[in-house]
Amino acid sequence: MGSIRFDNVSMRFGTFNALEGINLEIGEKEFVAIVGPSGCGKTTCMRMVAGFEHPTGGTVSVNGARVVAPGPDRAVVFQQFALFPWKSVRENIDLGLRNKNLPKSEREDRIARALKLMNLESHADNFPHQLSGGMQQRVAIARAYVLDPSVLLMDEPFGALDAQTRVVMQEELVRISRVNPRTVLFITHAVEEAVYLADRVAIMTRRPGRIKEVLDIKSIREAEQWDKHSRIEDVMDIESFVHLRTQIWKSLREEKGSDAV
Ligand SMILES: Nc1ncnc2c1ncn2[C@@H]1O[C@H](COP(=O)(O)OP(=O)(O)O)[C@@H](O)[C@H]1O
Ligand SMILES: [Mg+2]
Repeated sequence: MGSIRFDNVSMRFGTFNALEGINLEIGEKEFVAIVGPSGCGKTTCMRMVAGFEHPTGGTVSVNGARVVAPGPDRAVVFQQFALFPWKSVRENIDLGLRNKNLPKSEREDRIARALKLMNLESHADNFPHQLSGGMQQRVAIARAYVLDPSVLLMDEPFGALDAQTRVVMQEELVRISRVNPRTVLFITHAVEEAVYLADRVAIMTRRPGRIKEVLDIKSIREAEQWDKHSRIEDVMDIESFVHLRTQIWKSLREEKGSDAV
């Protein structure tokens, strides 16, 4: 469960052509990152999978069914954590489960597992203002995982974090993706983050947004055994990593006038 498909998708806002001819297939439990200059339509792509936005042409489908509305099979993590300040960590995580009609014990089990997954157990009764940005984003991710979605949609989830916290969260996401694999559509304009995290990286053009190329990272990661290194800075030194990063940078730089690179 959890495949995503864009079939010749286009999006116009009035007379403005935001996206054109987007074709992309994401397999079950695959992790795909989309990179591209700001304003190229990355968030719009994600919002269409989430069911918040509908393409003006073509089809977006999840598990073979056209997306018509948001659903419990897809959870979204935004850059802004969007936590409720007057609710504790536990209550924030519980929110998504409220309308799922689960028995209380099942709900409590799930929350306990999500707290454990994100190393939040000792903060369950804290309120968001008592937590650092990284901790708040952990809560937002826990809140997505507790829904047990087959698809996780992440829109620059680490964009608001400082550099050190960001690295910790990237390593953390790799760890949880291993113990709890999901289909992930991850949007970023940080090239290294995309290469470090994703199985494939889709590069978008500036305007109108199209997918100009898709790079296979997974086969290189496996062949070159990046996983032998547990720390991101060691992976970033590997020649094959540097090569992919440079290739993506060049491709993005060709998008003239880009302010994101
Ligand atoms: N609801 C909307 N109405 C009009 N224009 C929009 C709307 N949503 C996005 N856009 C425009 O579409 C383009 C793509 O936006 P977005 O998907 O947010 O880009 P990105 O996430 O890559 O920065 C931008 O030029 C943006 O201004
Ligand atoms: Mg965006």
